[in-house]
Amino acid sequence: MENRAEKRRIVLVPVAAQGHVTPMMQLGVALQLKGFSITVAKRQFKQISSSLQHVPGFDFVTIPESSDMSEFKGLGPAEFLMKLNKTNEASFKECISQLLLQQGNDIACIIYDKLMYFCEAAAKEFKLPSIIFSTSSATIQVCYCVLSKLEAEKFLIDMKDPEMQDKVLEGLHPLRYKDLPTSGFGPLEPLLEMCREVVNTRTASAIIINTANSLESSSLSWLQQELGITVYPLGPLHITASLPGPSLLQEDRSCVEWLNKQTPRSVIYISLGSKAHMETKEMLEMAWGLSNSKQPFLWVIRPGSILGSDGIESLPEEISKMVLERGYIVKWAPQIEVLAHPAVGGFWSHCGWNSTLESIVEGVPMICRPLQGEQKLNAMYIESVWRIGIQLEGEVERGCVERSVKRLIMEEEGAGMRERALVLKEKLKATVTSAGSSYNALNELVKDLKTQ
Ligand code: UDX
Repeated sequence: MENRAEKRRIVLVPVAAQGHVTPMMQLGVALQLKGFSITVAKRQFKQISSSLQHVPGFDFVTIPESSDMSEFKGLGPAEFLMKLNKTNEASFKECISQLLLQQGNDIACIIYDKLMYFCEAAAKEFKLPSIIFSTSSATIQVCYCVLSKLEAEKFLIDMKDPEMQDKVLEGLHPLRYKDLPTSGFGPLEPLLEMCREVVNTRTASAIIINTANSLESSSLSWLQQELGITVYPLGPLHITASLPGPSLLQEDRSCVEWLNKQTPRSVIYISLGSKAHMETKEMLEMAWGLSNSKQPFLWVIRPGSILGSDGIESLPEEISKMVLERGYIVKWAPQIEVLAHPAVGGFWSHCGWNSTLESIVEGVPMICRPLQGEQKLNAMYIESVWRIGIQLEGEVERGCVERSVKRLIMEEEGAGMRERALVLKEKLKATVTSAGSSYNALNELVKDLKTQ
């Protein structure tokens, strides 16, 4: 008799951005290893679309674009997202109806990025099980729930009061009101509305989160109670299912050879993920500070990531010479391999969730330079909860850059952070190995998917 479970298909719906696509593909690989077939339903991604096709064994379908993108011009991020969800409902239903025809109704579940909640309409119409996937932390999901219940006008008045800013949210220690991620999404009211939409689980039966009990146990328990659906912490997914690509840019592997020539734990690795930008002035202060610290550094400068400059080539000769004396610059690095390299002593990061997990898994302490929204919350956890990093706040100035690098790489304080990072590393690794909490959660999920 044919094994029906092995043939059953999961439809994955990612957000078209590196930090979202990577963990979604890792989840796909983890489920593929458990015997499921994977179809990725993607919108017409610009940059990462072609590299996505290389994930072995996955099928891909494109959700037809149902609206003219010019209609989205001028919208803030929250409004953009809500409009995108509205306009994609019909085209996704069409996409699923075609898939059901082709697959002889063999779809076990639709798993969609929490921001792609338009998928629920199709799941409901075709009576298909659905599960939400959150590529960021459990604590961010908690914040979305809190924000969804706030009233914009009152919150704005409250936040003018410094006492209120520092107040811890009831039952959510150590989260303070000022930690709620409200920057980078445009005006507050649309953001709160977006949170209401995102936390509405509709008919989804569960939420998968790329995190682990050992990192965020209280946020996970809170969510379990609040949402009333099963919460599966499956992270860090990059250990469970490592994957070559998909990558925004071609990895420059020459930096590994450069790292091979450096002394152990001496190098600061600098990367701001796939989207963040910095001003030329900040970059120059960083260059001076790094250079003055006398530590070697590996710096990822993506094309266009320095506002008002084409990267290191367009900087004054004196500065690029100084940078190249101690540093090595690449446009895109094999980040996980770099973090695992014995020469790396610290990670200067914008604290995207993937970068945070990748750094902890390698036991590398961090210099946190969060730029917006959830990155600030991740940085707060890194500095104050896990105590494995230093946060740089306010304007970046060469003296504080030099000081932070020395504190992290050369001083006792940094050694303590590294020690704690190594303890956390072991705990995280244990979660994905036999009988660990993420390992068990994955098996539970598989069991549920097979019996839906
Ligand atoms: C953003 C958010 O910051 C993140 O918190 C959210 O969960 C997803 O969207 P991004 O800003 O790109 O993501 O940061 P991050 O989550 O850290 O993801 C970046 C990814 O790119 C990491 O997996 C990292 O390994 C990879 N990367 C980055 C490289 O492979 N090479 C590089 O040179 C730089």
